[in-house]
Amino acid sequence: VIRSAVTGIGAYLPPKIVTNDDLSKFVDTSDEWIVERTGIRQRHQAAEDQAVSDLALEAARSALEAAGRTAAEVDLIIVATTTPDLTFPATATIVQRKLGAPVGIAFDIQAVCSGFVYALSVADGFVARGHSKCALVIGAEAMTRLMDWSDRGTCVLFGDGAGAVVLEPREGQGTTADQGLLSFALRADGTKQDLLFVDGGPSTTGTVGKLRMLGNQVFKHAVVNISEAIRAAAGSAGVEIADVDWFIPHQANQRILQGVAHRVGLDEAKVISTVAIHANTSAASIPLAFAHGVADGRIKPGQLLLLEAMGGGLTWGACLLRL
Ligand code: ACO
Repeated sequence: VIRSAVTGIGAYLPPKIVTNDDLSKFVDTSDEWIVERTGIRQRHQAAEDQAVSDLALEAARSALEAAGRTAAEVDLIIVATTTPDLTFPATATIVQRKLGAPVGIAFDIQAVCSGFVYALSVADGFVARGHSKCALVIGAEAMTRLMDWSDRGTCVLFGDGAGAVVLEPREGQGTTADQGLLSFALRADGTKQDLLFVDGGPSTTGTVGKLRMLGNQVFKHAVVNISEAIRAAAGSAGVEIADVDWFIPHQANQRILQGVAHRVGLDEAKVISTVAIHANTSAASIPLAFAHGVADGRIKPGQLLLLEAMGGGLTWGACLLRL
Protein backbone atom coordinates (compact mmCIF):
# COMPACT_ATOMS: atom_id res chain seq x y z
CA VAL A 1 0.00 0.00 0.00
CA ILE A 2 1.02 3.61 -0.51
CA ARG A 3 0.97 5.72 2.65
CA SER A 4 1.22 9.50 2.97
CA ALA A 5 4.25 10.11 5.13
CA VAL A 6 5.22 13.28 6.96
CA THR A 7 8.77 13.97 5.72
CA GLY A 8 9.25 17.51 7.04
CA ILE A 9 7.74 19.84 9.64
CA GLY A 10 8.11 23.59 9.93
CA ALA A 11 6.69 26.46 11.95
CA TYR A 12 6.57 30.22 12.07
CA LEU A 13 5.59 32.53 14.90
CA PRO A 14 5.42 36.30 14.40
CA PRO A 15 8.03 37.97 16.64
CA LYS A 16 5.63 40.12 18.68
CA ILE A 17 4.75 38.45 22.01
CA VAL A 18 1.76 39.63 24.04
CA THR A 19 1.78 38.49 27.68
CA ASN A 20 -1.24 38.19 29.96
CA ASP A 21 0.02 41.25 31.82
CA ASP A 22 0.12 43.18 28.54
CA LEU A 23 -3.57 42.30 27.99
CA SER A 24 -4.55 43.22 31.53
CA LYS A 25 -3.55 46.82 30.76
CA PHE A 26 -6.60 47.23 28.49
CA VAL A 27 -8.87 44.26 29.33
CA ASP A 28 -10.41 43.58 32.76
CA THR A 29 -8.42 40.37 33.37
CA SER A 30 -5.33 39.11 35.16
CA ASP A 31 -2.42 36.78 34.53
CA GLU A 32 -3.62 34.69 37.46
CA TRP A 33 -7.14 34.19 36.02
CA ILE A 34 -5.90 33.32 32.52
CA VAL A 35 -3.21 30.88 33.73
CA GLU A 36 -5.54 29.16 36.19
CA ARG A 37 -8.45 28.73 33.73
CA THR A 38 -6.50 28.05 30.53
CA GLY A 39 -2.76 27.55 31.11
CA ILE A 40 -2.04 30.38 28.63
CA ARG A 41 0.83 32.72 29.56
CA GLN A 42 1.49 34.49 26.28
CA ARG A 43 0.56 34.53 22.59
CA HIS A 44 2.25 35.76 19.41
CA GLN A 45 0.59 38.46 17.34
CA ALA A 46 1.10 39.08 13.62
CA ALA A 47 2.28 42.56 12.63
CA GLU A 48 -0.29 44.75 10.89
CA ASP A 49 1.40 44.25 7.54
CA GLN A 50 1.64 40.46 7.92
CA ALA A 51 -1.08 38.51 6.13
CA VAL A 52 -1.81 34.87 6.92
CA SER A 53 -0.13 33.89 3.64
CA ASP A 54 3.08 35.47 4.96
CA LEU A 55 2.95 33.32 8.10
CA ALA A 56 2.09 30.26 6.01
CA LEU A 57 4.94 30.97 3.59
CA GLU A 58 7.56 30.97 6.37
CA ALA A 59 6.22 27.72 7.84
CA ALA A 60 6.09 26.14 4.37
CA ARG A 61 9.69 27.10 3.61
CA SER A 62 10.94 25.60 6.86
CA ALA A 63 8.93 22.38 6.32
CA LEU A 64 10.34 22.02 2.78
CA GLU A 65 13.87 22.55 4.08
CA ALA A 66 13.33 19.90 6.76
CA ALA A 67 12.06 17.48 4.11
CA GLY A 68 14.96 18.26 1.76
CA ARG A 69 12.50 19.41 -0.90
CA THR A 70 12.28 22.60 -2.94
CA ALA A 71 9.31 24.75 -3.93
CA ALA A 72 9.76 23.51 -7.51
CA GLU A 73 8.72 20.00 -6.38
CA VAL A 74 5.47 21.03 -4.64
CA ASP A 75 2.40 19.82 -6.56
CA LEU A 76 -0.32 20.26 -3.91
CA ILE A 77 -0.86 23.02 -1.32
CA ILE A 78 -3.68 22.90 1.18
CA VAL A 79 -4.01 25.73 3.68
CA ALA A 80 -6.28 25.22 6.66
CA THR A 81 -7.32 28.66 7.83
CA THR A 82 -10.27 30.59 9.16
CA THR A 83 -8.51 33.94 8.69
CA PRO A 84 -7.68 34.03 4.95
CA ASP A 85 -5.93 36.98 3.33
CA LEU A 86 -8.97 37.69 1.14
CA THR A 87 -12.45 36.26 0.68
CA PHE A 88 -10.98 34.82 -2.50
CA PRO A 89 -8.66 33.62 -3.96
CA ALA A 90 -7.72 30.88 -1.55
CA THR A 91 -4.74 31.62 0.68
CA ALA A 92 -3.20 28.42 -0.75
CA THR A 93 -2.88 29.95 -4.22
CA ILE A 94 -1.35 33.09 -2.69
CA VAL A 95 1.19 30.90 -0.87
CA GLN A 96 1.84 29.04 -4.15
CA ARG A 97 2.66 32.34 -5.88
CA LYS A 98 4.84 33.66 -3.02
CA LEU A 99 6.66 30.33 -2.76
CA GLY A 100 7.24 30.22 -6.50
CA ALA A 101 5.73 26.74 -6.72
CA PRO A 102 4.75 25.52 -10.19
CA VAL A 103 1.20 25.08 -11.49
CA GLY A 104 -0.41 22.34 -9.42
CA ILE A 105 -3.32 21.92 -7.03
CA ALA A 106 -3.98 24.55 -4.32
CA PHE A 107 -7.01 25.29 -2.17
CA ASP A 108 -8.09 26.12 1.37
CA ILE A 109 -9.94 24.09 3.98
CA GLN A 110 -12.29 25.75 6.44
CA ALA A 111 -12.96 23.63 9.50
CA VAL A 112 -11.76 26.22 12.04
CA CYS A 113 -9.64 24.67 14.82
CA SER A 114 -10.09 21.19 13.28
CA GLY A 115 -8.83 22.47 9.94
CA PHE A 116 -5.39 20.90 10.10
CA VAL A 117 -6.73 17.40 10.81
CA TYR A 118 -9.33 17.79 8.04
CA ALA A 119 -6.64 19.09 5.63
CA LEU A 120 -4.34 16.17 6.39
CA SER A 121 -7.10 13.70 5.55
CA VAL A 122 -7.85 15.48 2.26
CA ALA A 123 -4.16 15.60 1.32
CA ASP A 124 -3.89 11.91 2.20
CA GLY A 125 -6.43 11.20 -0.56
CA PHE A 126 -4.21 12.89 -3.17
CA VAL A 127 -0.89 11.45 -1.97
CA ALA A 128 -2.00 7.87 -1.27
CA ARG A 129 -3.77 7.66 -4.66
CA GLY A 130 -0.72 8.85 -6.56
CA HIS A 131 -2.00 12.34 -7.45
CA SER A 132 0.64 14.16 -5.40
CA LYS A 133 4.33 13.41 -4.88
CA CYS A 134 5.09 16.40 -2.67
CA ALA A 135 2.25 18.02 -0.76
CA LEU A 136 2.32 20.96 1.62
CA VAL A 137 -0.34 20.92 4.34
CA ILE A 138 -0.33 24.20 6.23
CA GLY A 139 -2.30 25.47 9.21
CA ALA A 140 -2.03 29.27 9.36
CA GLU A 141 -4.03 31.78 11.37
CA ALA A 142 -4.18 35.38 12.52
CA MET A 143 -6.91 34.78 15.11
CA THR A 144 -6.15 38.06 16.89
CA ARG A 145 -7.77 39.81 13.89
CA LEU A 146 -11.13 38.25 14.83
CA MET A 147 -11.11 39.35 18.47
CA ASP A 148 -13.63 41.60 20.13
CA TRP A 149 -11.16 43.27 22.49
CA SER A 150 -14.00 44.25 24.83
CA ASP A 151 -14.91 40.57 25.40
CA ARG A 152 -12.54 39.25 28.06
CA GLY A 153 -14.04 35.77 27.76
CA THR A 154 -12.53 35.31 24.29
CA CYS A 155 -9.82 37.88 23.52
CA VAL A 156 -7.35 36.40 26.01
CA LEU A 157 -7.50 32.92 24.47
CA PHE A 158 -6.13 33.26 20.94
CA GLY A 159 -2.86 33.86 19.13
CA ASP A 160 -1.31 33.92 15.64
CA GLY A 161 1.11 31.58 13.88
CA ALA A 162 1.58 28.90 11.25
CA GLY A 163 2.82 25.34 10.98
CA ALA A 164 3.32 23.10 7.97
CA VAL A 165 4.14 19.53 7.03
CA VAL A 166 5.37 17.99 3.80
CA LEU A 167 3.62 14.76 2.81
CA GLU A 168 5.21 12.30 0.40
CA PRO A 169 4.21 8.79 -0.69
CA ARG A 170 5.95 5.85 0.98
CA GLU A 171 5.49 2.16 0.28
CA GLY A 172 4.04 0.32 3.29
CA GLN A 173 3.06 -3.21 4.29
CA GLY A 174 -0.44 -2.22 5.34
CA THR A 175 0.40 -2.58 9.03
CA THR A 176 0.60 -0.09 11.88
CA ALA A 177 4.41 -0.30 11.61
CA ASP A 178 4.20 1.59 8.27
CA GLN A 179 5.47 5.15 8.13
CA GLY A 180 2.62 7.53 7.32
CA LEU A 181 -0.95 8.49 8.08
CA LEU A 182 -2.70 5.42 9.52
CA SER A 183 -6.27 6.48 10.29
CA PHE A 184 -8.70 9.36 10.73
CA ALA A 185 -11.97 9.99 12.52
CA LEU A 186 -13.62 13.25 11.40
CA ARG A 187 -16.87 14.65 12.78
CA ALA A 188 -19.14 17.70 12.40
CA ASP A 189 -22.34 18.75 14.17
CA GLY A 190 -23.85 21.89 12.65
CA THR A 191 -26.55 22.11 15.31
CA LYS A 192 -23.90 23.46 17.72
CA GLN A 193 -23.12 26.55 15.60
CA ASP A 194 -24.15 29.01 18.31
CA LEU A 195 -21.49 27.79 20.72
CA LEU A 196 -18.63 29.17 18.65
CA PHE A 197 -18.79 31.29 15.50
CA VAL A 198 -17.76 34.57 13.86
CA ASP A 199 -20.67 36.96 13.46
CA GLY A 200 -19.89 38.19 9.96
CA GLY A 201 -19.37 36.98 6.42
CA PRO A 202 -19.58 38.00 2.75
CA SER A 203 -23.10 36.66 2.10
CA THR A 204 -24.71 37.82 5.35
CA THR A 205 -23.33 40.97 6.95
CA GLY A 206 -20.73 41.87 4.36
CA THR A 207 -18.24 42.25 7.21
CA VAL A 208 -15.48 40.06 8.60
CA GLY A 209 -17.11 39.86 12.03
CA LYS A 210 -15.84 38.99 15.50
CA LEU A 211 -15.46 35.68 17.29
CA ARG A 212 -18.32 34.76 19.64
CA MET A 213 -18.15 31.84 22.04
CA LEU A 214 -20.04 30.23 24.87
CA GLY A 215 -16.79 29.06 26.44
CA ASN A 216 -18.07 26.80 29.19
CA GLN A 217 -20.41 24.97 26.77
CA VAL A 218 -17.61 24.48 24.24
CA PHE A 219 -15.51 23.15 27.09
CA LYS A 220 -18.14 20.57 28.05
CA HIS A 221 -18.41 19.20 24.51
CA ALA A 222 -14.66 19.24 23.87
CA VAL A 223 -13.50 16.46 26.18
CA VAL A 224 -16.36 14.09 25.33
CA ASN A 225 -16.26 14.64 21.55
CA ILE A 226 -12.50 14.53 21.17
CA SER A 227 -12.21 11.40 23.30
CA GLU A 228 -14.77 9.58 21.13
CA ALA A 229 -12.91 10.55 17.92
CA ILE A 230 -9.59 9.39 19.40
CA ARG A 231 -11.06 5.99 20.27
CA ALA A 232 -12.55 5.71 16.77
CA ALA A 233 -9.26 6.60 15.05
CA ALA A 234 -7.32 4.16 17.24
CA GLY A 235 -9.93 1.46 16.64
CA SER A 236 -9.87 1.81 12.86
CA ALA A 237 -6.04 1.74 12.78
CA GLY A 238 -6.02 -1.25 15.13
CA VAL A 239 -3.70 0.36 17.67
CA GLU A 240 -3.94 0.57 21.44
CA ILE A 241 -4.04 4.10 22.83
CA ALA A 242 -1.34 3.00 25.32
CA ASP A 243 1.01 2.44 22.35
CA VAL A 244 0.86 6.11 21.31
CA ASP A 245 4.26 7.77 21.83
CA TRP A 246 3.10 11.37 21.64
CA PHE A 247 -0.27 13.04 21.87
CA ILE A 248 -0.26 16.30 19.84
CA PRO A 249 -3.61 17.97 20.55
CA HIS A 250 -5.10 21.20 19.32
CA GLN A 251 -3.96 23.73 21.91
CA ALA A 252 -7.10 25.43 23.24
CA ASN A 253 -6.90 25.03 26.98
CA GLN A 254 -4.58 23.06 29.27
CA ARG A 255 -7.58 21.68 31.17
CA ILE A 256 -9.05 20.27 27.93
CA LEU A 257 -5.73 18.56 27.09
CA GLN A 258 -5.55 17.01 30.55
CA GLY A 259 -9.23 16.06 30.52
CA VAL A 260 -8.89 14.26 27.18
CA ALA A 261 -5.67 12.48 28.19
CA HIS A 262 -7.33 11.31 31.38
CA ARG A 263 -10.52 10.14 29.66
CA VAL A 264 -8.78 8.08 26.96
CA GLY A 265 -6.16 6.72 29.35
CA LEU A 266 -3.11 8.51 27.96
CA ASP A 267 -0.18 9.29 30.23
CA GLU A 268 -0.04 13.08 30.71
CA ALA A 269 3.74 12.92 30.24
CA LYS A 270 3.06 12.04 26.58
CA VAL A 271 1.13 15.27 25.88
CA ILE A 272 2.90 17.91 23.80
CA SER A 273 1.58 21.16 25.24
CA THR A 274 2.37 24.58 23.81
CA VAL A 275 -0.79 26.31 24.95
CA ALA A 276 1.19 28.30 27.55
CA ILE A 277 3.41 29.91 24.93
CA HIS A 278 1.25 29.94 21.76
CA ALA A 279 -2.34 30.15 23.13
CA ASN A 280 -5.06 28.93 20.75
CA THR A 281 -3.89 29.40 17.15
CA SER A 282 -6.83 27.47 15.68
CA ALA A 283 -5.76 25.42 12.61
CA ALA A 284 -2.09 26.30 13.23
CA SER A 285 -1.88 24.89 16.73
CA ILE A 286 -1.28 21.19 15.92
CA PRO A 287 1.53 21.72 13.39
CA LEU A 288 3.05 24.37 15.69
CA ALA A 289 3.05 21.91 18.61
CA PHE A 290 4.30 19.14 16.30
CA ALA A 291 7.21 21.30 15.13
CA HIS A 292 7.95 22.29 18.73
CA GLY A 293 8.16 18.64 19.84
CA VAL A 294 10.40 17.74 16.89
CA ALA A 295 12.67 20.75 17.45
CA ASP A 296 13.21 19.95 21.13
CA GLY A 297 14.05 16.32 20.30
CA ARG A 298 11.09 14.62 21.99
CA ILE A 299 9.29 13.52 18.80
CA LYS A 300 11.41 11.14 16.73
CA PRO A 301 11.07 9.21 13.45
CA GLY A 302 9.31 5.87 13.88
CA GLN A 303 7.09 7.05 16.73
CA LEU A 304 3.31 6.70 16.82
CA LEU A 305 1.60 10.10 17.05
CA LEU A 306 -1.99 10.99 17.88
CA LEU A 307 -3.38 14.34 16.66
CA GLU A 308 -6.80 15.72 17.65
CA ALA A 309 -8.81 18.92 17.48
CA MET A 310 -12.22 20.46 18.01
CA GLY A 311 -13.49 23.81 16.82
CA GLY A 312 -16.34 25.90 15.47
CA GLY A 313 -19.10 24.07 13.64
CA LEU A 314 -18.74 22.18 15.79
CA THR A 315 -16.13 20.15 13.96
CA TRP A 316 -13.71 17.71 15.52
CA GLY A 317 -11.48 14.82 14.66
CA ALA A 318 -8.42 12.71 15.33
CA CYS A 319 -5.57 11.26 13.28
CA LEU A 320 -3.02 8.55 14.00
CA LEU A 321 0.27 8.55 12.16
CA ARG A 322 3.69 7.00 12.35
CA LEU A 323 6.50 9.49 11.76
N1 ACO B 1 -10.47 37.44 33.01
C1 ACO B 1 -11.15 37.48 34.17
N2 ACO B 1 -12.37 37.01 34.34
C2 ACO B 1 -12.97 36.45 33.26
C3 ACO B 1 -12.34 36.37 32.02
C4 ACO B 1 -11.03 36.90 31.91
N3 ACO B 1 -10.32 36.86 30.77
N4 ACO B 1 -13.16 35.76 31.15
C5 ACO B 1 -14.28 35.47 31.81
N5 ACO B 1 -14.17 35.88 33.11
C6 ACO B 1 -15.16 35.77 34.17
C7 ACO B 1 -16.57 35.69 33.65
O1 ACO B 1 -17.06 37.00 33.40
C8 ACO B 1 -17.28 35.02 34.78
O2 ACO B 1 -17.53 35.97 35.79
P1 ACO B 1 -18.91 35.95 36.63
O3 ACO B 1 -18.88 34.61 37.31
O4 ACO B 1 -18.75 37.12 37.51
O5 ACO B 1 -19.98 36.06 35.59
C9 ACO B 1 -16.23 34.06 35.34
O6 ACO B 1 -14.96 34.53 34.84
C10 ACO B 1 -16.46 32.62 34.90
O7 ACO B 1 -16.67 32.58 33.50
P2 ACO B 1 -16.82 31.24 32.71
O8 ACO B 1 -16.97 31.55 31.26
O9 ACO B 1 -17.86 30.38 33.37
O10 ACO B 1 -15.38 30.61 33.00
P3 ACO B 1 -14.82 29.17 32.65
O11 ACO B 1 -14.29 28.54 33.84
O12 ACO B 1 -15.79 28.40 31.79
O13 ACO B 1 -13.58 29.54 31.75
C11 ACO B 1 -12.96 29.57 29.46
C12 ACO B 1 -13.76 30.24 30.56
C13 ACO B 1 -11.49 29.68 29.80
C14 ACO B 1 -13.25 30.29 28.15
C15 ACO B 1 -13.35 28.09 29.36
O14 ACO B 1 -14.73 27.95 29.32
C16 ACO B 1 -12.77 27.44 28.14
O15 ACO B 1 -11.58 27.35 27.97
N6 ACO B 1 -13.63 26.90 27.27
C17 ACO B 1 -13.21 26.26 26.08
C18 ACO B 1 -13.30 27.23 25.00
C19 ACO B 1 -12.22 27.09 24.00
O16 ACO B 1 -11.12 26.69 24.26
N7 ACO B 1 -12.55 27.46 22.78
C20 ACO B 1 -11.60 27.51 21.74
C21 ACO B 1 -12.14 27.03 20.48
S1 ACO B 1 -12.80 25.45 20.62
C22 ACO B 1 -11.56 24.54 20.94
O17 ACO B 1 -10.52 24.85 20.45
C23 ACO B 1 -11.66 23.35 21.76
